[in-house]
Amino acid sequence: MALASLVLRRCMSSNTPPANVIKHVTVVGGGLMGSGIAQVAAQNGHEVTLVDVNQDALKKAIGTIQTSLKRVVRKVFKDDPGDGEKLVSETLERIKTVTDVKEAVKETDLVVEAIVENLEHKHKLFSSIDQIAPDHTIFVSNTSSLSIGEIASVTQRKDRFGGLHFFNPVPVMKLVEVIRTSETSDDTYEKMMAFSQAVGKTTVSCKDTPGFVVNRLLVPYVAEAVRMLERGDASAKDIDTAMKLGAGYPMGPIELADYTGLDTNAFIMEGWHKKFPDEPLFRPVELMRKLVSEGKLGRKSGQGFYKY
Ligand code: CAA
Ligand code: NAD
Repeated sequence: MALASLVLRRCMSSNTPPANVIKHVTVVGGGLMGSGIAQVAAQNGHEVTLVDVNQDALKKAIGTIQTSLKRVVRKVFKDDPGDGEKLVSETLERIKTVTDVKEAVKETDLVVEAIVENLEHKHKLFSSIDQIAPDHTIFVSNTSSLSIGEIASVTQRKDRFGGLHFFNPVPVMKLVEVIRTSETSDDTYEKMMAFSQAVGKTTVSCKDTPGFVVNRLLVPYVAEAVRMLERGDASAKDIDTAMKLGAGYPMGPIELADYTGLDTNAFIMEGWHKKFPDEPLFRPVELMRKLVSEGKLGRKSGQGFYKY
């Protein structure tokens, strides 16, 4: 089906990235997104170093990648289990995990940042590696909502800085939004496009505006669904069923909030509200804040609006 053909296309595509583009990728942050980005990069022939401050997160990330690869292989290599096993082992062999980001970026072509959605944390990270990474290395952020230009502002490589916005679950979702700021060079933009395509994704180009294309539409929609729940207009299950069966969405908005992580959703809304206080669509949602303060972050923590 859709995923099978996508994966098949990826598996059949050359295992070596096109000449003169990205060969080694450092993915910083081994959570939901970082693990998926590391997987698709390695699955398509890139050498990958996955970095997290937390050793347990790295262990979990490798487990997630193994499970995801098995799903891929079960479908694509039904008749060739040997080839499937080879894909899994070769992909895993290409992924190295480390906790020291400064060591990781000494020799790399691309740094993909997928850490917590917080400008201060992202600034701290990029300023700590800017002088260490080679000159040619491109830095990108996978931010959902922050300004790429603002993230890049602490570096001396604004021409080699952009946004690559992947979607969750990365191995399945076919899109990457490619974001260039007014300072991103043409060469960097072309390399970001080539890398995204080399990992099997379809690209769209976006300006550096809040939420780019998808989240500018999706985040207010999810927030409105939670407000509907707060008002008691309908139950979570009914809101989800309504949007799945009445609008053809693969997941309802409440399920989707749990799936993307309530902390990430809350960070996005709080950040936008601070920046655009007069925009009613960006008003933070009290119920979301409450769940986050109780440690209920959605699927990744075992409970959000639903229990997992
Ligand atoms: N790795 C590999 N394969 C996976 C996978 C993973 N992590 N997760 C699901 N799959 C595969 C399954 O094996 C299955 O494959 P086939 O159809 O070929 O058999 C397929 O994906 C469907 O999976 P399931 O049958 O388990 O479940 P589903 O049909 O409910 O689909 C879903 C799951 C793909 C996640 C689907 O519900 C969906 O598309 N949901 C919406 C996701 C979405 O909107 N993502 C964007 C979030 S916003 C964002 O990411 C941006 C941001 O900045 C916050
Ligand atoms: P997550 O909470 O699942 O993972 C973040 C990981 O980063 C954690 O493992 C944490 O230990 C690690 N980390 C934090 N600070 C670090 C640092 N300084 N160095 C190394 N590792 C560090 O988060 P996520 O959902 O994967 O989101 C990551 C980024 O991707 C955010 O900017 C988010 O907005 C964006 N994003 C999220 C989604 C989604 O659906 N969740 C989709 C697209 C983009």
